[in-house]
Amino acid sequence: QPIHLSDYRPPAYLVKHTELTFDLDPSATRVKARLHLQRHPEADAGAPLVLDGEALELKAIAMDGQALEADEYAVSETELTVFQVPESFILDTEVEIAPKDNTALEGLYQSASMYCTQCEAEGFRRITFYPDRPDVMATFATTVIGDSGSEPVLLSNGNPVERGELPNGRHFATWEDPHPKPSYLFALVAGDLKKVEDHFTTMSGRDVTLQIWVEEENLNKTEHAMASLKRSMRWDEEAYGREYDLDLFMIVAVNDFNMGAMENKGLNIFNSAAVLTHPQTATDATFQRVEGIVAHEYFHNWSGNRVTCRDWFQLSLKEGFTVFRDQSFSAEVNSAPVKRIEEVSFFRTAQFAEDAGPTSHPVRPDSYIEIGNFYTLTIYEKGAEVVRMLSNLLGAETFRKGSDLYFARFDGQAVTIEDFVTCMAEVSGLDLSQFMRWYSQAGTPEIDANGEYDYANATYRLTLRQRTPATPGQPDKLPLHIPVRMGLVGTKSGRDLNLTLDGQDLGTDTVIHLREEEQEFLFTDVAEAPVPSLLRGFSAPVKLFFPYSREELAFLLANDSDGFNQWDAGQRLVLLALDDLIAAHRNGVEKVMDPRVVDAFRDLLSQDTDDQAVLAEMLMLPSEAYIAEQQLLVDVDAIHAARDFVKQSLAHELRDEFLTLYQENQSAGAYAPTPAQIGRRALKNVALSYLMSIEDPQAITAAKQQFDADHNMTDVRHALTLLVHSSRGDIADPALKAFGTKWAHDPLVMDQWFTLQVTRPQADALDRVRYLMQHPAFSLKNPNKVRALIGAFAGQNRVNFHRLDGEGYRLLADVVIELNRLNPEIAARIITPLTRWQRFDEARQDLMKAELERIRQEKLSPNLYEIIEKSLA
Ligand code: ARG
Ligand code: ZN
Repeated sequence: QPIHLSDYRPPAYLVKHTELTFDLDPSATRVKARLHLQRHPEADAGAPLVLDGEALELKAIAMDGQALEADEYAVSETELTVFQVPESFILDTEVEIAPKDNTALEGLYQSASMYCTQCEAEGFRRITFYPDRPDVMATFATTVIGDSGSEPVLLSNGNPVERGELPNGRHFATWEDPHPKPSYLFALVAGDLKKVEDHFTTMSGRDVTLQIWVEEENLNKTEHAMASLKRSMRWDEEAYGREYDLDLFMIVAVNDFNMGAMENKGLNIFNSAAVLTHPQTATDATFQRVEGIVAHEYFHNWSGNRVTCRDWFQLSLKEGFTVFRDQSFSAEVNSAPVKRIEEVSFFRTAQFAEDAGPTSHPVRPDSYIEIGNFYTLTIYEKGAEVVRMLSNLLGAETFRKGSDLYFARFDGQAVTIEDFVTCMAEVSGLDLSQFMRWYSQAGTPEIDANGEYDYANATYRLTLRQRTPATPGQPDKLPLHIPVRMGLVGTKSGRDLNLTLDGQDLGTDTVIHLREEEQEFLFTDVAEAPVPSLLRGFSAPVKLFFPYSREELAFLLANDSDGFNQWDAGQRLVLLALDDLIAAHRNGVEKVMDPRVVDAFRDLLSQDTDDQAVLAEMLMLPSEAYIAEQQLLVDVDAIHAARDFVKQSLAHELRDEFLTLYQENQSAGAYAPTPAQIGRRALKNVALSYLMSIEDPQAITAAKQQFDADHNMTDVRHALTLLVHSSRGDIADPALKAFGTKWAHDPLVMDQWFTLQVTRPQADALDRVRYLMQHPAFSLKNPNKVRALIGAFAGQNRVNFHRLDGEGYRLLADVVIELNRLNPEIAARIITPLTRWQRFDEARQDLMKAELERIRQEKLSPNLYEIIEKSLA
């Protein structure tokens, strides 16, 4: 029963104003809704009123104050229909819901002792009967009634307008949100929460109160999120001219949450893992992630809330744009090249895999069964890459004009991706019609590049050929408009050469536009033989193939002026060496390390660098998942063995260099999540990883010392992971135990404790997963725990998940079956590794498919149904 984009119709009735009253109770919360409805100007006069509603018990219904008779309306599993309604009227309903039984964590649910909501995309229909679609925007007035003792804090969107005591130890608070919004942005929080408060003065001089609400024991973990929020607010004013529009902005941390966070108007709700930090409990990566997510949700206030989506097919309109905005912000406040390297290496591993798998879909899908399945890397990350291409095509200044126009023209409206792109076309005068294919065509485009230097004529001929492989439902693809940023690096001088194309002087770094299936670019006056540096900064989300020799890659690694491509050349060089080693492993031949890789790494280590974080990235080997992504048929064991071999060879050959690097970059002084400190820690810890791969005695001592020193979580966790992943059980076990006991009270640290154990490469990992699932700190009802234990095992521990006895697959399927009942959204996500069966050998394919078939026998939620059917199609 898929829904199609082409079936979009405007709603028959609009809601102008919504009044809600919640009388909270774990098993019987009463929700009264008073909707001020109006027929859409284009709708039929006789159109019935149809409201969405799921798992609601209707207690009362009245129109314009008059209770409805039983034959005047009908209630189904998913809808309430009122057969005859006037052009404009008031509808009152009262329903009962049970937050404590809501393990799906959509709608109103309980997390520990507090009540909270998650309404995007379609959770509001589990709260009350409503036209639960983003193109219905209303002002809201919400009254929350709770117990004065257990729920002293009662929050909703907008501004607090009234509060007071009620009989029987109850109290209430009323909130008004003056900005019309769709139901998916509604939020309510109630519980025994404590707050930290701060202030922000907007560019027009208004004072905004900022609050972060947490459980009391987490009050000391809010500082970084608050600082990030203030930086974000300032940045959005400066970079986009966007000012905050209420007097109050609240963030609430909750432990049970399906995703990272949610941008509800004025009341952002966060997974505690995406907001709480402390040097002793959170790693550098977490500090940076929190900063990025706080920014992301804040930026949604304009890109998402003030201007929202017409329908859920347009999801990337707000998500792609907002991810691009948070990425730009993070690049500016941190090390920009490192940010880009991290983004791209994640993107090429995970989004490329999604694009190549059975659930591949365009940035704007044309159909779906369950929208909850479409909060994907394609909608978010590829959507952001598409916006980034627009920004690069237009240039920063013109792009800003386009965004100003978009916000001005569509403020308060629910719009489409065309509306956004049209603004960009208007301000730039560019024809973006071919570019629009990026939104409708799924799959990762591939470019075959070839180059030829003509010594006699001093010309360089670059040929680019593009194709996009077929994806489910899209057998034939059209050529895309692909911006390829590039330079030519002279092999004599090591410098970027001047580029002259069609008689035009383009400087040393330019963007060429590939629009045809095949195009030739002839550069003239090329002073010396060059190595091309292509797709600089990952200027388009494509795979680019060029027949580089290893010498050329080593040359680019040393000489490319583009930091990103320097890093990429290193990755390509290592991948070539890995190819040989994977083949050797398969053929049972002795593995030999390519000396060119060792030399390239030695050169890296001998250079003085001022950006430790970039160097750390350059020294990191591609992940097993990324290596797998390069292969048609994935050989998990060969990949693991080959990668270990490279790591150990480098460690043996460059032992002293790594040891020096480790010692020179020791943490000194108080912890701060500054780019400089983070870079030093990253570099030091990369060095330690190499040394631990050969279990160098000095490294073991260092890891143990680093763990014992207990300076900050980044160092502690890294050291503990290395010990636990080594064969040195004698050292690892006491450390692991000490850590588990020390942090038993802190769920976010326990998540890390789970992850680092179940990702160990040793053969006992799967037994550990089963064992830890019985641990008192584990619960299948908590998504963070599921991700930390099951998600980490299936996603990161490739050798053990893909065991040939099929036990890894069986374990994941068992969990998926349980989660199908408890939390369908999480079930449909955690299953991902099983859906990628096409890439493995026949024995594994059969085992994986058998587990998918076993799951298929269950009574499936729509979420899982859609994924299973697509995976087995
Ligand atoms: N809009 C939220 C964000 O990107 C995510 C909401 C996810 N909702 C869901 N049902 N998956 O920040
Ligand atoms: Zn978002």
